[in-house]
Amino acid sequence: MISKTVMAFLPSLLKIRKKEPICAYIYDIHALKNHVQHIRETLPGYCSLYYAVKANPDPSILQALEKDIDGFDTASEGEIVKVLSLSDKPIIFGAPAKKDKELEYLSKGKLQTVNIESERDMQRLNRLGSMEGKKLSVLIRVNSTYHVANSSHRMTGVPTQFGIEEDVIPTLLRKLVEYPYLEVKGFHFHAMSNNLDALDHLKFISFCRDRMLGWKAQFSLTSATTLNAGGGIGVNYHQPENPFDWETFSSGLYQMEDTFTHEGLRLILELGRYMVAHCGYYVAEVMDIKKNHGEHFALIRGGTHHLRLPAAWKMSHPHTIYPVEKWFDEPLPRPGIKGKNVTVAGELCTPNDILIRQAYVERLCAGDLIIFPMAGAYGWTISHHDFLSHSHPAFHYLDSSLERRDFQN
Ligand SMILES: Cc1ncc(COP(=O)(O)O)c(C=O)c1O
Repeated sequence: MISKTVMAFLPSLLKIRKKEPICAYIYDIHALKNHVQHIRETLPGYCSLYYAVKANPDPSILQALEKDIDGFDTASEGEIVKVLSLSDKPIIFGAPAKKDKELEYLSKGKLQTVNIESERDMQRLNRLGSMEGKKLSVLIRVNSTYHVANSSHRMTGVPTQFGIEEDVIPTLLRKLVEYPYLEVKGFHFHAMSNNLDALDHLKFISFCRDRMLGWKAQFSLTSATTLNAGGGIGVNYHQPENPFDWETFSSGLYQMEDTFTHEGLRLILELGRYMVAHCGYYVAEVMDIKKNHGEHFALIRGGTHHLRLPAAWKMSHPHTIYPVEKWFDEPLPRPGIKGKNVTVAGELCTPNDILIRQAYVERLCAGDLIIFPMAGAYGWTISHHDFLSHSHPAFHYLDSSLERRDFQN
């Protein structure tokens, strides 16, 4: 579960420990590049691979991915600016509450398309187009009825703030004549998070294709050639040994190829979690171990203000213990447990600061490190970093082709 590169790096992390306990994010950039190259190489030609920046906007991650992707999916001006500073690849923008400044990036030619998620979005973009005297390229974001069972965070098919209800789309398309400055380039269907079922994801894509072809024919949408199926491909935090079956997914996409190319459609996959989750590790030192009301607790330097995912999803995060031989705090006794269940808590003053619940450990001592893999997506940036004003973790980027770069965030 822990890459060789990261394992080889841990002794040097301990060497530079000095007085401060260890607390760090480690990114295996080399593994990330290989993973993204593999995704790229196994996608058929009608697919475009975009990266959903929200999963991890760290510039080193964006740089590492840039070469092997076709573009970026952004959701704020901040993300647009980050991408523009390091790439000239296409940028798509979509968000529920859009600011004028964000929309202006489209009229200034900095964005490929913007998602329309309401009639007001249509009105605002049409007005912007008329002011600039040019048609603006948009995708219509659909809140579809499809239900991907084995996923979390349903964004469509249930009442959510995203997209336009599938049943309302025809009414909206009928009104397009009132919006002469919009050019509908296609439809956007992002619908779920962390889907682990490859066959269901393929079925979802077929469903989107059929819906889109129906609307395209009914409303003569000749410029609508992009089907953006969003992201949502998952990683298995509960059983990492049983991941999303990418090979099945890839061969299913090849089987669908004719149905897309015959209609002149491009399929965009804008993946976040699946691209970057595995390259990130959060590493924290055990500061103390104690027993309260019959349960053992290990307290780490760090916590859910650095890695909020386990608290947000109410799960135990996958983890590995890295035993450390030398106890730095001699002659004080070293707290430890053997063959017990332990709950791993952070340094915050809230009982919600829990990363692992009641996990069995052969041995765990103060001074050991706990490594949390699969922390590269929705890790650091979804966390409430400054709650309690603890110092931020260190960040280390491991890439065999680059020098190691470290910095304190
Ligand atoms: C519109 C859109 N596209 C893509 C993604 C990326 O999703 P994931 O990280 O699950 O692949 C998201 C995530 O919320 C999203 O909202």
